[in-house]
Amino acid sequence: MAGRRPLISGNWKMHHNHFEAIQAVQKLSYVVSANDLEAVDVSVHPPFTDLRSVQTVIESDEVGIALGAQHCHWEDKGAFTGEVSPSMLAKLNVSLVIVGHSERRELFGETDEDVNRKVKAVLAAGMTPIMCCGETLEEREAGGAVAKVEGQVRAGLDGLKADQVGGLVIAYEPIWAIGTGRTATPEDAQEMCAAVRSTVRDRWGALAADDVRIQYGGSVKPVNAPDLMGQPDIDGALVGGASLDPDEFARIIAYRLVG
Ligand code: 13P
Repeated sequence: MAGRRPLISGNWKMHHNHFEAIQAVQKLSYVVSANDLEAVDVSVHPPFTDLRSVQTVIESDEVGIALGAQHCHWEDKGAFTGEVSPSMLAKLNVSLVIVGHSERRELFGETDEDVNRKVKAVLAAGMTPIMCCGETLEEREAGGAVAKVEGQVRAGLDGLKADQVGGLVIAYEPIWAIGTGRTATPEDAQEMCAAVRSTVRDRWGALAADDVRIQYGGSVKPVNAPDLMGQPDIDGALVGGASLDPDEFARIIAYRLVG
């Protein structure tokens, strides 16, 4: 892993109102061990309406968990009804922002160009993007998985300097594995994460490739986390459904002790 610190992130998607979010993060702070938080970076990504409440819990209880968001606009302010800007998130001490999740791309029409603008805006606001990529089942079956992901990485990170790429996070999430209970095998996930890293190496150089953290996402559970996390090019997990239950999420965070 070349000294890369693992990052386990919980993407809550459109779940938990702010009361439920407060309870979830408080419970998580009790069940996650201090040892794990020393070895592993952890973030939670609640809906926008929960961010201020979760920030307050994290800061007042000194919980060693980073606050993340799921999405943002690329502009700082303006007539963009319903959108939230990177600087608004930074003001809430959000440190990580998911950009280009497949649900945003597939359901809300986000393009690679949008993703690229957002990645740059998140960096400009002093936060770290988690840039998502991943192929559909049809693309995988047609043998186009690597080409799809390579194209998303090159386009999504276009124009960035090597040290910026080295400092961010890329999440490889095969669309067919999201919310389906169908996880990529550790070997398939490793192969794709290695392809992501070699794309970074080709375009931004060896230093960026060694530093960039690559997460796997798609039906990560306590039972499969140890094998996935044991792969040389997998530096973390982006967890959806299993992150909603603090006990289950804590067991994923404790992956080093299982198996
Ligand atoms: P699941 O873990 O529910 O499959 O979701 C994965 C995901 O999309 C995380 O961003």
